Amino acid sequence: MNIQHFLVQKFSQAMVAAGAPENYKAQVRSSDKSQFGDYQVNDIIALAKNLNIEPTKLAEQVLKHLNLHNIAKKVEIISPGFLNIFLDSQWLAAQIDHILVAEKLGITTMQPKTIVIDYSSPNVAKEMHVGHLRSTIIGDAIVRTLEFLGHNVIRANHIGDWGTHFGMLIAFLEKKNITNYQAIGLTNLEILYREAKQAYDNDVEFAQRARNYVVQLQSGDKYYRQLWGQLVHITMTQNQLLYDRMNVTLQPTDVMGESLYHHMLKNIVSDLQQKNLAVSSQGAIVVFLDEHRNKSGERTGVIIQKNDGGYLYTTTDIACAKYRHETFQADRVIYYIDSRQNKHLQQAWAIARQAGYIPDSLQLEHHMLGMVLGKDGKPFKTRTGDTIKLSDLLDEAVNRATQLILEKKPHISQGELHSLAEIIGIGAVKYADLSKHRTTDYIFDWDHMLSFKGNTAPYMQYAYTRVLSIFRKSRINPNEEIVGTTSLVNNISIQLAIILLRFEETINKVADDGLPHIMCAYLYNLASVFSQFYETCPILEEKNQNKKTTYLKLVLLTAKTLKYGLDTLGIKTVERM
Ligand code: ARG
Repeated sequence: MNIQHFLVQKFSQAMVAAGAPENYKAQVRSSDKSQFGDYQVNDIIALAKNLNIEPTKLAEQVLKHLNLHNIAKKVEIISPGFLNIFLDSQWLAAQIDHILVAEKLGITTMQPKTIVIDYSSPNVAKEMHVGHLRSTIIGDAIVRTLEFLGHNVIRANHIGDWGTHFGMLIAFLEKKNITNYQAIGLTNLEILYREAKQAYDNDVEFAQRARNYVVQLQSGDKYYRQLWGQLVHITMTQNQLLYDRMNVTLQPTDVMGESLYHHMLKNIVSDLQQKNLAVSSQGAIVVFLDEHRNKSGERTGVIIQKNDGGYLYTTTDIACAKYRHETFQADRVIYYIDSRQNKHLQQAWAIARQAGYIPDSLQLEHHMLGMVLGKDGKPFKTRTGDTIKLSDLLDEAVNRATQLILEKKPHISQGELHSLAEIIGIGAVKYADLSKHRTTDYIFDWDHMLSFKGNTAPYMQYAYTRVLSIFRKSRINPNEEIVGTTSLVNNISIQLAIILLRFEETINKVADDGLPHIMCAYLYNLASVFSQFYETCPILEEKNQNKKTTYLKLVLLTAKTLKYGLDTLGIKTVERM
């Protein structure tokens, strides 16, 4: 049960009965300190001001209309007008018993939605770099979170696979007599791409040929389309290895690149002209948007077709939004892209809405991403100033994890070392990213992310193995039901039970706002409270059968919750470390 949600409903009703306007929504939040109750109501004072009555009077009225019989053992009024809710331990015990045996801890969504997640989206003929890290990792965590809740999730890898540069690349490979594309490899392809660009800028005849190939490609010529297809294939085969290595759920079938929308662009431009939304301006086709104005208040134009006939990134995103509505009947589309592309997206969506391509009911959200910075506070680069390739970053993470493991376990077998280093090293990079608020920039810090202390992957992975070890020591099979009465007799057990029950509200918050750092903070808190519990309660030595049963149930639920939580983040776990 989502306790927070449940209490919001209960208090909202009571507050309306006490005079709050209809549809009033109470502000209930979990409290940080147990002396202030388990949950708190914080909006009595503000509401009392609006209703022009004494806050404590209003609080009393609210309590009169509130029925939390058997749910809360008391609700306290604290001057000048706070309400502290102390949940009943028997009720908590019953909730624990319920979620312990329910499938997926009893969490489901009442109204499953169709949600498209646009993420990762690298560009063809270039290796993925550190700039794609956040979109890939955070996007995938949200995919997993929404799927856990039972939504119909469509992964859309909007790769940059279309544009004039493909003509240039094909012309250059021809010039260099390279016919066996498959032997090139992505690293070389990127180098060739750079050389091709130079040839294009300096050699008029070459540039003409390249443009000619673009025309062939765009008109659907079989031969050129097939060459282009091979370039995409080289890129995405390489990227798929990275996805698999990073435990990212993207598959080749999730690729929906820019080329998918190309055939729609011509019609969209003429349709926008017909609807008088687009006009010719200096040879280009432009849409002027009321809500996008420059400093002097004039409407700024968004170009959707250049004077040479070429379409733009924005034109593609207009078509893409239309397609996602028509093809998937999506309720929600979330884009995980860096903050600098916000204006671009807002313009594309405004045009799509004005043209009636998407209904008002379709929620389009740009979940902005901050940047990854180096220790100098500038965009994270190599020592020589180049962008850092994702594959190099992962290699370094695994190397560092290997050293770390060898320090602790010098006699570990090669096979175990290798697989553990992948899990710890890559987990560390992912978790470091996920645990930061996604909109802020953060500094990439190897030492911190690989530390076994603090809100890090190694700490969480280790905490999980410690919980599992209790089962081994007590010779209990965690897959078998633990029978017996649950009675929460001490404060720390109650505290742990409440945190365990908060998993549901936590995962819903992550899903609503696309903020996985909330899950990281929750799991970290859970692990910390669990270790306090473990120190206080002698689980294995406990003679009282009732107590022992309760403790073991809490241990089992902690293990399950940590596992589910880390799974939604895409962080792998091991049984022993
Ligand atoms: N390929 C783009 C880039 O690397 C990101 C695409 C994001 N998705 C979108 N629908 N525009 O910057």
